[in-house]
Amino acid sequence: MSKKIASARISAESSALLKELNDSLPFDKALYREDIRGSRAHARMLMKQGIISPEDFEAIDRGLARVLEEIESGAFTLDGGDEDIHMAIERRLTEIVGDAGKRLHTARSRNDQVAVDFRLYVLRHDRQIASLLLDLIESFLAVAREHSETLLPGMTHLQHAQPINLGYHMLAYASMFRRDYERFVSSAERNNLSPLGCAALAGTPHPVDRRSTAEELGFDEPTLNCLDTVSDRDFALEILFNIATMMMHISRLSEELILWSTSEFGFVRLSDKHATGSSIMPQKKNPDIPELLRGKTGRAYGNLMSLLTVMKGLPLAYNKDTQEDKEGVFDSVRTAELSLRVLREMIDEMEVNAEAMERACSRGHLSATDLADWLVREQGLPFRDAYHLVGNAVNYAEELDKDISELSAEELSVVDERLGEACELLDNRLSMNARRSEGGTATERTREQIVKMEEWVEAQRS
Ligand code: ARG
Repeated sequence: MSKKIASARISAESSALLKELNDSLPFDKALYREDIRGSRAHARMLMKQGIISPEDFEAIDRGLARVLEEIESGAFTLDGGDEDIHMAIERRLTEIVGDAGKRLHTARSRNDQVAVDFRLYVLRHDRQIASLLLDLIESFLAVAREHSETLLPGMTHLQHAQPINLGYHMLAYASMFRRDYERFVSSAERNNLSPLGCAALAGTPHPVDRRSTAEELGFDEPTLNCLDTVSDRDFALEILFNIATMMMHISRLSEELILWSTSEFGFVRLSDKHATGSSIMPQKKNPDIPELLRGKTGRAYGNLMSLLTVMKGLPLAYNKDTQEDKEGVFDSVRTAELSLRVLREMIDEMEVNAEAMERACSRGHLSATDLADWLVREQGLPFRDAYHLVGNAVNYAEELDKDISELSAEELSVVDERLGEACELLDNRLSMNARRSEGGTATERTREQIVKMEEWVEAQRS
């Protein structure tokens, strides 16, 4: 058996169990692109600094391009028992170009190598997820544009509260996903610093130029302190937190869509593309997609907790514990990107039953607060007195088995003579449109929010 290339002092062959525990190739092979990119930048810098010869650089650069091709064509399968992606690529490179390949690891350690690979991967997906979020926000805006006049019962405690419109409801989600977008973008900006050239923990005596590799790889500049850099996984924790929070938003929306598509609500119909049947009940159409999105939130939380726990108590600098950073991040990223794509398709294709939403507004005395506000404004009553008086009107409406918006002026006068005059005000559409304060639900305010959100999306795209 040939000597392991990264084990100068280890003579015995590794036990199969050690390999199973230790090897990360089965999962970190996902980093092959980043690893090759980082290595090419490193080799070019070594050449420019006179650390390796131009001939060696040419051989390495050509060799790495070939390794990339071989991986992408399937000719090099990354299942040859190498310890990790870094060792696999270095081994294949050396098979192809010979001794020059052995010079690639000058002034570098796997510690800064994995830090740069993983950071490049995470930053790429911060940006990718941010871009998917913008697409999703546009889908909410499309529904909002169409439904800024569609009445919907606004709820608190899942009880009817005040009338709003569906567009306004969609803008609430657009606002949540906008905060998510901003978190991914700011994580990508904050962490856009290059670990390359930190070597094992303390820098290197070779005259490396960290600025040139940082620039070639698209980083703003090198990190400040190598000891921190090789053991820092904050960038990974950030994407995990950003994904966990985003999945929480997706889960809340999913819950509403599940509820809204029940026969009790009937507010929306999810497209048949996003529903599945039952193996026994022939009539069933189940909302499996929003249920899965809600369910997948669990693993996103788990991945965040898992890495926080791995990092807790690690002394400086690199510890092998951090190899446990990858699978959770890969899983969260895959979950996040798939969820965003599916959710967007579901929003684009769902059918809104505006009539059912408006019908639902005629139950639950949604305009009761308007009556109290009117008593304060027009009759000078202290709000608390008005509140109690309207409570009586609601009780009376219940006795008649009516909604407060259905009471006639005469019926209102039975409760208190002043109330008759306010009868028209209790119409749910008027009530919705009365909430004209900034950020309020009135159709004109909703449209204003749509425009502001559209301008914001536009600004992000340009
Ligand atoms: N596969 C390792 C990881 O993902 C690479 C770093 C190994 N460094 C070391 N000192 N053993 O963390």
